[in-house]
Amino acid sequence: MATNLGIAGLGVVAQGFLDLASDSQEELESIVGHAVCLKRVASRRPRSEADLTHIAFSTDLNDLASDNELDLVIELIGGTDAAYDLIKRCLQSGRGVITANKAVLAEHGNELLALARTNQVPLGFEAAVAGGIPIIAPLKTGFPANGIRWITGIINGTCNYILTAMARDETPFDDALRTAQELGYAEADPTFDIGGMDAAQKLAILVALAYDVPISVDDVYCEGITDLTIDDLKHAEELGYTIKHLAIGRVVDDSIDMRVHPALIPVNNLIAKVDDVENAVQCGTENAGVLRFMGPGAGGHATASSVMADVVNIASGLYRQPSIGGRKLAIKPIDSIEGSFYLGISAADKPGVIASIGETMARHDISIASMIQKKEESDGAADDAHIPVVILTNAIVERELNQALVELESLEDIAAPIKKIRVVDFE
Ligand SMILES: NC(=O)c1ccc[n+]([C@@H]2O[C@H](COP(=O)([O-])OP(=O)(O)OC[C@H]3O[C@@H](n4cnc5c(N)ncnc54)[C@H](OP(=O)(O)O)[C@@H]3O)[C@@H](O)[C@H]2O)c1
Repeated sequence: MATNLGIAGLGVVAQGFLDLASDSQEELESIVGHAVCLKRVASRRPRSEADLTHIAFSTDLNDLASDNELDLVIELIGGTDAAYDLIKRCLQSGRGVITANKAVLAEHGNELLALARTNQVPLGFEAAVAGGIPIIAPLKTGFPANGIRWITGIINGTCNYILTAMARDETPFDDALRTAQELGYAEADPTFDIGGMDAAQKLAILVALAYDVPISVDDVYCEGITDLTIDDLKHAEELGYTIKHLAIGRVVDDSIDMRVHPALIPVNNLIAKVDDVENAVQCGTENAGVLRFMGPGAGGHATASSVMADVVNIASGLYRQPSIGGRKLAIKPIDSIEGSFYLGISAADKPGVIASIGETMARHDISIASMIQKKEESDGAADDAHIPVVILTNAIVERELNQALVELESLEDIAAPIKKIRVVDFE
């Protein structure tokens, strides 16, 4: 008996997989209990670095879907259209699939997972969220006795790299982004990462698994990191917080709270210490407290190790297809969520302004937990006539805060817009 594999793509992750497969062939076969053979690779063009001795190569992805010798096809081309067609054809023809592609799952995951179940073939996607961190398997099978109260995660390495460089080295945003691109962390077009969409796609997958709801990216509230300044990060630190781009998923009042946005996290929270391109996912559980998963969210070998975990599970017959979409829950609007907030206000440098901010907040029943007010060099928050005033509020429903902000922004002595960053402190 043998499990025969085909691979679509010859890029970073595929090369990582080829390396791991050749380095761990014997170990792999001893865990699985039979031979695991890479039979075919299809990609747009061959690459001289890839050793494809004894492996059939073609430039036509259809050769993978139609090769009846293959038991499993590993989709590593990325994107949505061609990947969707390939995965669908393989599942329809009774071939199992493994994919590292969160984009195709975010767009077509409900259909593809249903197709896999109908055809009783596996569709593995351990590598699709948080690269080398094994988080899909625990969410699928590791929590039977543990209701998941909440999930929080740093699941976009590019955002985390940029925010770390801004906080630690005071590197301006644009410079940090340029370095991330030079180091291969960020795409040539980084909009998807820094705008939050990449994290939103990954969160939608995690939430679907954790709460048995459909994958629904459009329902994820999404903010990126482009408005953050070095001053914001410095002020947050003075208040005892680190700013991270955070993904949050939980069920509140029978509704799904699903959002990605910059968040102030207390510095003593372990996730606040996850720096550079590292990823982390934390799950607050009913019976095991907070479970933490941290590690490399990307990289050829790290991501390929998650692909390999799926290969081992599927080839050993241990793979259990997750069920998602069994529950239909309402989406909790972002402005109905209660929490504390960081407010960055650019206020006229003259007497009485702080008092009028305080009066407006008090009229809206918003109490102030801390305040920083000082004249300082700024990278955008203030000019000569204005000084930064930073307020940390006590808990308030966001809708009520928004009403106060409209009023504050209409004051002559306050420059609009006021920056609002949510504080997240689940433990
Ligand atoms: N890189 C990471 O660290 C990482 C981490 C987690 C998940 N992932 C996911 O893993 C997947 C692969 O990522 P990657 O970084 O390995 O990508 P990559 O380096 O860009 O490799 C993609 C490969 O697929 C080929 N390809 C693309 N479209 C094709 C098509 N229509 N037909 C035939 N071949 C095609 C490319 O060929 P050409 O280069 O010749 O065009 C290339 O060989 C993506 O879904 C990505 O989101 C990657």
